[in-house]
Amino acid sequence: MSPYFKKRLMAAAGLFWFSYLVIHMLANLNFLTGEDNFDGFYHWFHEAVILRWSVIGLLGLSIGFHIYTALSRQFDSNNKRQIAYKKPYPQAVSRFVAWSGASMLFAFIVFHFVQMQLLPTHNFYQEVSNIFSMPLMIGIYALGFFSLSTHLHHALSSVLQTFGLTHKQHHGFVFLIIFILMGGFISVPISVYL
Ligand code: HEM
Repeated sequence: MSPYFKKRLMAAAGLFWFSYLVIHMLANLNFLTGEDNFDGFYHWFHEAVILRWSVIGLLGLSIGFHIYTALSRQFDSNNKRQIAYKKPYPQAVSRFVAWSGASMLFAFIVFHFVQMQLLPTHNFYQEVSNIFSMPLMIGIYALGFFSLSTHLHHALSSVLQTFGLTHKQHHGFVFLIIFILMGGFISVPISVYL
């Protein structure tokens, strides 16, 4: 598989996750409108068994593929960048930092997925409220949100860089997208304390 094709497939898998996150964040905003709406949405989603497990299956496949491609590109490229950005990347993040952040995000996703599957009841509003009333959970979710923001910043910047936009041109746009997405997610734990 050519490195160019691999990079495109990796971006496609990332884009699928990004679309899921936008929908997940919008669905979670129901939390701000009360128990009936939040529970109503998740009860409907649970009853749509085929849809729900198709989404979960595709998320699992695409994250597996995304990680496999990232690892194989890393091993392939070693010292040499095979596909140069049209504009140079502004401040290259060290590999160690990038991989630590990505690992933290992966650990968070696994944790959150398992936690949500093991909820003792289907009273989602109450369960989510209980989760966010624990300081340890606030810490874990804060780390998850932080690693998601930095990963998205790196991913979106590098996609736009590949299309030839400079750091100055895409900086504000990338920041705005992350601000809106993360603002939506963070509004849930914040609302538990209001
Ligand atoms: C305040 C933030 C969040 C809340 C309140 C929340 C809430 C939920 C809930 C209630 C479910 C259970 C759905 C079900 O059993 O049908 C769920 C599932 C899931 N969440 Fe989140 N979530 C949050 C953030 C995130 C983030 C940041 C990610 C990814 C980085 C994520 C990824 C997932 C995945 C992969 C699933 C399993 C698929 C599904 O059942 O929809 N969530 N979340």
